[in-house]
Amino acid sequence: MAPPSIPGATYVGSSKCSTCHEDVSHKFADATHAKLFADGGNAVETGCESCHGPGSLHVKAGGSIGTILNPTAETCYQCHLEKRGEFSLPNSHPIASGKMTCSDCHDPHAGNAVAEGGTSIDAINSSCVKCHTSQGGPYVFEHEASREGCTVCHNPHGTLNAKMLKARNSNLCLQCHYQQTTSTGDIYIGGRQHGGASGYLTRGGTCWSTGCHEAVHGSHVSSSLRF
Ligand code: HEC
Ligand code: HEC
Ligand code: HEC
Ligand code: HEC
Ligand code: HEC
Ligand code: HEC
Ligand code: HEC
Repeated sequence: MAPPSIPGATYVGSSKCSTCHEDVSHKFADATHAKLFADGGNAVETGCESCHGPGSLHVKAGGSIGTILNPTAETCYQCHLEKRGEFSLPNSHPIASGKMTCSDCHDPHAGNAVAEGGTSIDAINSSCVKCHTSQGGPYVFEHEASREGCTVCHNPHGTLNAKMLKARNSNLCLQCHYQQTTSTGDIYIGGRQHGGASGYLTRGGTCWSTGCHEAVHGSHVSSSLRF
């Protein structure tokens, strides 16, 4: 962990910031980063400055731009080093190219991890569907999987797999849908025969390949999420 620094500046504490930035500060008490103390903070609570850098020059100047940091993903990586790796994976949200920022999904100034107030599944999903409107439904036939969050199937930072999927094969689906193999070698999933000597599974591909369950997010026409 290496909080950002500003040459010549020292820590003043978050309470100083609130005199001019009450609009930001008033929601900050329950934010994850409000608990941070930067080194050399002289026991003042330095939550704001853990991302924005030490604020003495900014305060002295009456708050001019250029005296305080405007954090980018690089600032976040100073403490969340492993996230740089996730966002360089072949399938990831476009942070590296600058098309998105961490704050599109994380509010740094209030509450827990995810924008719109909290780590609850509803909050996670609604923060995804504000950009990905079509995956949010409503559908005539919902796939109940999404009630547990988009993140049961996707890692929103990035993965090696296409579409940021957590698994590239049927293991993605079998985490919830139990697969049974009978003594005669037939394979049942969801109470229906899927494989054996012949059957869907011998086609290869994934559960969501063409002709199978293409409508993984939900369907308007097919209760078995075929299309
Ligand atoms: C004396 C009042 C004052 C205090 C105290 C103050 N600020 Fe500011 N701050 C301002 C003003 C005014 C601006 C807007 C400058 C502008 O838009 O021209 C500003 C701008 C900013 C910006 C935006 C900078 C940018 O490049 O866009 C950040 C971030 C910021 N302040 C953080 C802080 C933090 C963190 C603290 C506490 C360490 C703090 N401020 C304390 C008055 C203050
Ligand atoms: C987790 C890191 C982090 C912490 C902690 C943090 N900020 Fe920020 N702050 C950011 C980021 C990132 C942005 C840019 C937001 C954006 O792109 O929408 C920002 C933007 C700002 C701005 C300018 C834009 C605005 O929303 O008005 C001000 C002022 C500001 N922060 C003040 C504060 C104050 C005051 C605190 C403490 C109460 C604080 N910040 C704590 C990361 C942080
Ligand atoms: C000074 C170091 C530091 C900086 C800079 C920093 N973080 Fe953090 N962050 C932490 C620590 C420490 C935790 C708490 C880790 C824990 O509880 O396991 C944390 C937790 C988080 C969490 C998890 C929150 C939760 O409620 O579970 C998210 C999301 C996060 N940070 C995003 C960001 C983003 C986005 C930025 C840049 C705008 C950023 N952080 C900048 C140190 C930092
Ligand atoms: C597309 C949305 C999205 C973007 C962009 C994003 N995150 Fe996240 N992040 C999430 C979600 C959703 C979770 C919660 C994951 C879960 O519960 O499985 C999360 C969790 C986290 C956590 C806590 C759990 C963990 O994985 O360690 C940290 C820290 C974090 N993000 C940091 C960052 C940083 C830093 C950036 C920018 C470089 C960033 N995130 C960009 C959606 C996003
Ligand atoms: C601020 C807008 C925004 C938010 C919020 C957002 N995304 Fe994205 N998402 C994008 C962009 C931009 C791309 C890249 C699209 C491209 O490259 O064509 C993308 C790509 C994706 C892809 C890959 C699509 C493909 O065709 O390869 C998936 C899957 C995805 N996002 C899931 C999520 C999930 C899950 C969340 C919530 C945790 C989320 N997104 C939140 C903007 C967003
Ligand atoms: C049950 C697992 C699962 C859940 C839950 C899930 N997805 Fe997906 N998602 C997939 C699969 C599988 C694909 C790849 C489909 C393909 O390649 O044809 C995909 C593809 C995507 C894509 C790429 C475009 C597309 O439709 O093919 C986006 C964007 C996306 N998902 C967003 C989301 C969002 C947002 C949520 C939450 C509302 C979500 N997903 C929930 C499994 C899931
Ligand atoms: C988080 C758990 C979860 C995951 C992961 C998941 N599902 Fe589901 N799925 C459910 C639940 C719950 C239902 C509704 C109850 C049932 O039919 O088992 C359901 C229903 C279905 C149905 C409708 C069954 C019927 O009645 O015809 C299909 C098809 C389906 N899922 C396919 C998939 C595929 C394909 C994947 C992988 C891309 C997947 N599921 C991943 C939880 C999940």
